[in-house]
Amino acid sequence: MPEINDNARRWLVEVATDVLDHGTSGTFTIAPEVTRRSAENYTDAERFNAELRRLFRRIPLLLAASCEIQGRGDFRTYQIAGVPVLLTRDADGQARALVNICTHRGAPVAHGAGHCSRFTCSYHGWTFGLDGRLAAVSSAADFGAVDRGTYGLRQLPVLEKGGMIWAILDPESTLDIDAFLGMFGEALSAFDLTGWMLVSEKTLTGANWKLAFDAHMEFYHLPVLHKNTFGPQTSPRALYYFEGPHQRLIRPVRYEKNGMPARADLFQWAEHPQDTWPIESMMMGEWILFPNVSFNSFYDGGRGVLVSRIYPGETVGESITVQSYYMAGQPSDAERAEAQKTADFLEGVVAGEDLVNSRNQQRALDSGLLREVSYGCNERGIVHFHEWVDRILAASDAELNTLFRDGRATA
Ligand code: FES
Ligand SMILES: [Fe+2]
Repeated sequence: MPEINDNARRWLVEVATDVLDHGTSGTFTIAPEVTRRSAENYTDAERFNAELRRLFRRIPLLLAASCEIQGRGDFRTYQIAGVPVLLTRDADGQARALVNICTHRGAPVAHGAGHCSRFTCSYHGWTFGLDGRLAAVSSAADFGAVDRGTYGLRQLPVLEKGGMIWAILDPESTLDIDAFLGMFGEALSAFDLTGWMLVSEKTLTGANWKLAFDAHMEFYHLPVLHKNTFGPQTSPRALYYFEGPHQRLIRPVRYEKNGMPARADLFQWAEHPQDTWPIESMMMGEWILFPNVSFNSFYDGGRGVLVSRIYPGETVGESITVQSYYMAGQPSDAERAEAQKTADFLEGVVAGEDLVNSRNQQRALDSGLLREVSYGCNERGIVHFHEWVDRILAASDAELNTLFRDGRATA
């Protein structure tokens, strides 16, 4: 586990202390009242387009763990909110997020994922360096004079931190990614994905991206929708801890699971001085990184983290969930097989239960016959999330930086 700064550690201790208090007293905190929201939030095409433009194309998105483009020349491509993205590591070891559009006539310069020393456009063969600059124009004499310096692939703002890589899908953005992540980002870096291994990646389809993501922000449905997988005894209660637009959900009960080292169980440390609590004992629960990512820890075959990214699909009623399962260190084949079983199980739960359910909800809401949906006092993480979506849709470009600084103080 890496060292994190004092503020982030203080926050982890504060949350852990509160979890222990609630765990001991059997209590949890709830919102003062039920909140309602128009069902059109999930069905309206205009709203969906605004979310693509004003949310997904303006807010930092977690694209990958550093280990996914470990070596120089490793790359991955994405299509997010209509933007083709090429994520790569250049010859100096810097992560680069580039717009995957050839500056000649717009074909993509890279497909899928892999490793290369330069990108060659598959249409007419222009080549680009790993840093995006235009290296060569094919049949240059025939093509005619161009100023190569102005024909590089467009660069997107990017930040690599704590083994994770964020980018903003707007080349003009001046948003401070670090300010957006705030202390949450610092604490999150204690997962330390640097040097980890991607052992499984699943791509699942579902309904509206917020319907799919809402299911990550409450535990209320666990003993019901997941009664045959997680079991009907699973606690539906979540404690919520907010940090700017981000949040954590923690069940105030003892986390006991085969294979989990004792030092990762917070309750083992209740009687010890706070400054001796290991960081991993304070990383429990689900971490929700705004606007579309959740992190969950597992210990099957070794320490692992399931990172789920929920992306908007082609229409308001479609989404894509990418489940990436990472393991610490260099797990053996047997350990990986154990983790793979967990990854397969989680795919079954989400694809077979959550996302099936989200499609049923979508069909129902599309009928227009339920005008409003309600979020209970025990589902306040969802309310927090939707309020932040609204706030961001309403903010001008200039207001975004201020919003994250001010929002942190008041959220
Ligand atoms: S579009 Fe890329 S070389 Fe022509
Ligand atoms: Fe679920």
